[in-house]
Amino acid sequence: MIETLTEFAKDVRDGLSKDNKTLPSRYFYDEIGDDLFVKIMDTPEYYLTDSEMEIFTDRTDELVKLVNFDRKFDLIELGAGDGTKTIHLLKALPKSNFKYIPVDISSNALDLLSQRMKKAMPDLEIETRNLEYFSAIKTTESENPKLVLFLGSSLGNMLDDRAKEFLSQLAKCLRKGDKVLLGLDLKKSADIILPAYNDAQGFTREFNLNLLRRINEELEADFDLSKFEHQPVYDETKGIALSYLRSTEDQTVNISCLGCTFSFAEGEVIHTEISRKYDRPLVDQLIESTDLEIEAWITDSKEYFADIILEKH
Ligand SMILES: C[S@@+](CC[C@H](N)C(=O)[O-])C[C@H]1O[C@@H](n2cnc3c(N)ncnc32)[C@H](O)[C@@H]1O
Repeated sequence: MIETLTEFAKDVRDGLSKDNKTLPSRYFYDEIGDDLFVKIMDTPEYYLTDSEMEIFTDRTDELVKLVNFDRKFDLIELGAGDGTKTIHLLKALPKSNFKYIPVDISSNALDLLSQRMKKAMPDLEIETRNLEYFSAIKTTESENPKLVLFLGSSLGNMLDDRAKEFLSQLAKCLRKGDKVLLGLDLKKSADIILPAYNDAQGFTREFNLNLLRRINEELEADFDLSKFEHQPVYDETKGIALSYLRSTEDQTVNISCLGCTFSFAEGEVIHTEISRKYDRPLVDQLIESTDLEIEAWITDSKEYFADIILEKH
């Protein structure tokens, strides 16, 4: 049985078998999750999108000067999602100077993105990659220089050690002069951050619970979604937001595809997401053992969010 398990099944089994139960956040993004994430980005509480959008719309010329190359380049976007911010940069760059390569593990997100881009920019040279981040970069071996976009503070979904390793692995895939445009959410007070992970319309709650619905559907499980609640927490001193699913009673859940059951005590939590917040010393620390150097640090007017241009030296 073990041999035939999908990666999703193995990750669910491993995560729920730990003393402190976890589920990887990348499984949020199926068709329903993609749609909920777009709704979350539209909520007034989710300042991250508005802040980064302000940089992409009001500072476009500056961005273009910083990221454009004097010859044709590959613009690779990791975890591209719906590309609503990216499109402003793509429109401002000289059309024939780049190929756009959006990468996403969600084929649904990529299909929607591709349709939208082709409609808005019929001349855009676009090549989608429905792969994991690094598998996608490895399949993009051309002589062209690279600009890698990693927006929306997606790096913050990794613990610092993992983020460090990610940046060092990314740097190894790049050549001298290649660039990274990295969008990071900055440290700020809990009264701004916490509502972003607990919107009044309940989309974040649904997004978190969607993980259990997905396990029910894809792994034939019997999670009762009404017996789990969304629990966001923000530690202001550390600058770390965490999302949990909290069991509201003692219960047992059967996952048929895994052939096992998991027990949950009342109040026990499953950790589902981390959203790290950054400042300059932390970013310096994350890139210190890579060949990446900060070329520019652009923030929105409220200084909630930063888009950082890194160059490989
Ligand atoms: C939080 S959304 C951000 C979307 C977009 N970058 C933005 O700023 O709005 C993260 C996206 O990354 C994709 N994703 C998550 N983990 C991934 C991985 N390991 N490899 C490729 N794509 C991934 C998800 O499917 C989702 O579309």
